[in-house]
Amino acid sequence: MHIKLALLGFGNVHRALARLLLRKTDVLRDEYNLTISVTGIATHSRGFAIDPAGLDLVRALELVEAGQKLDALHQGEPVRDTLALIAACPADLVMEATWLDPRSGQPAIDYVRAALQAGRHVVTANKGPVAYAYRDLLALAKAQDRGFFFESTVMDGAPVLGIGREALLATDVKRIRGILNSTTNYVLTCLERGIDFEDAIIQAQEIGVAEADPATDLEGWDSAVKITVLANVIMGADLRPSDVDRTGIMATSVQEAQAAVQAGERIKLVCEAVRDDATGMVRASVRPMRLPFADPLSQVQQTSSAVTFETDTLHHLTLVEGDTDPTTTAYGMLVDMINILRGRYRYESF
Ligand SMILES: NC(=O)c1ccc[n+]([C@@H]2O[C@H](COP(=O)([O-])OP(=O)(O)OC[C@H]3O[C@@H](n4cnc5c(N)ncnc54)[C@H](OP(=O)(O)O)[C@@H]3O)[C@@H](O)[C@H]2O)c1
Repeated sequence: MHIKLALLGFGNVHRALARLLLRKTDVLRDEYNLTISVTGIATHSRGFAIDPAGLDLVRALELVEAGQKLDALHQGEPVRDTLALIAACPADLVMEATWLDPRSGQPAIDYVRAALQAGRHVVTANKGPVAYAYRDLLALAKAQDRGFFFESTVMDGAPVLGIGREALLATDVKRIRGILNSTTNYVLTCLERGIDFEDAIIQAQEIGVAEADPATDLEGWDSAVKITVLANVIMGADLRPSDVDRTGIMATSVQEAQAAVQAGERIKLVCEAVRDDATGMVRASVRPMRLPFADPLSQVQQTSSAVTFETDTLHHLTLVEGDTDPTTTAYGMLVDMINILRGRYRYESF
């Protein structure tokens, strides 16, 4: 089977995906009978390129990494914007990895909707569309008989949502708890070691974990968006990030972090979604909590992340992910792509 991909965004994640597709060409052909071409790329400032015969990915990487535009690779009429590229690009599957606006989910929601309406499958690494428009987009995907997968939105490439979709069947997920933001977990680890808040943030920026403006992470917004995704997708909730009871780590000090360790505990920014037994409603929160060393989440240090599911059948199931980078995220997108092509998006069928 030959598959044509359109890439929305060509930043860290999609450049890693391009390299992964080049590296996995033989595996995809020999084990999955898949050959892949990228027929379109959209960016914010590096232009647009469509080539129905397949873009030269090596050249596209070279151009963008040299600070140049992709326009030299484009064949055909000029492309006005990303929605126009979605409409014009001959693609079976649209991969979406543009910027995240954690307070609205746009413009990625519009891109995902347009791609599904045009009859494309969609894979996104962007939390926005799932946190703000999951039910609508899923209904549209079902109506169009197309896949809409988004494994990389939570814990990069770790199969958190795949576990929910494929393995947590006929079970009652009562609670999800997680450490889902690398910047805050890194800063909290530094505080325990006596490094003050400002220096910890600088260190997190130096190793490429924290953004230039880390407020979205430190105030718990990124965590709130991620727990919303988990609550809506795995627990069937209908929350928005603003529904999450959210406290960041701005007020946490070296003294508090070290006092917790002295007492056999660690302060962690815990994301939680809990189903109320009486009402069946799901409540979600993000807040710093002291966890005893015996809690697996307390052992998650530095840039690692983890999630624990509590269900009526598996009781406690914890997944820990370490050493992530854009290739990990790209891998989650690759797995989504393969699963869509294997028909795994037809949830109701056996
Ligand atoms: N980095 C990770 O490991 C990771 C992990 C999980 C999820 N994610 C999510 O994946 C997405 C991409 O992350 P990233 O690290 O690759 O970000 P990035 O390096 O900032 O790249 C974003 C890309 O999107 C392009 N873009 C922005 N607005 C656009 C628009 N309206 N139309 C078309 N392209 C647009 C940018 O264009 P320019 O090249 O012109 O700037 C850039 O190429 C984000 O939503 C992020 O939250 C990332």
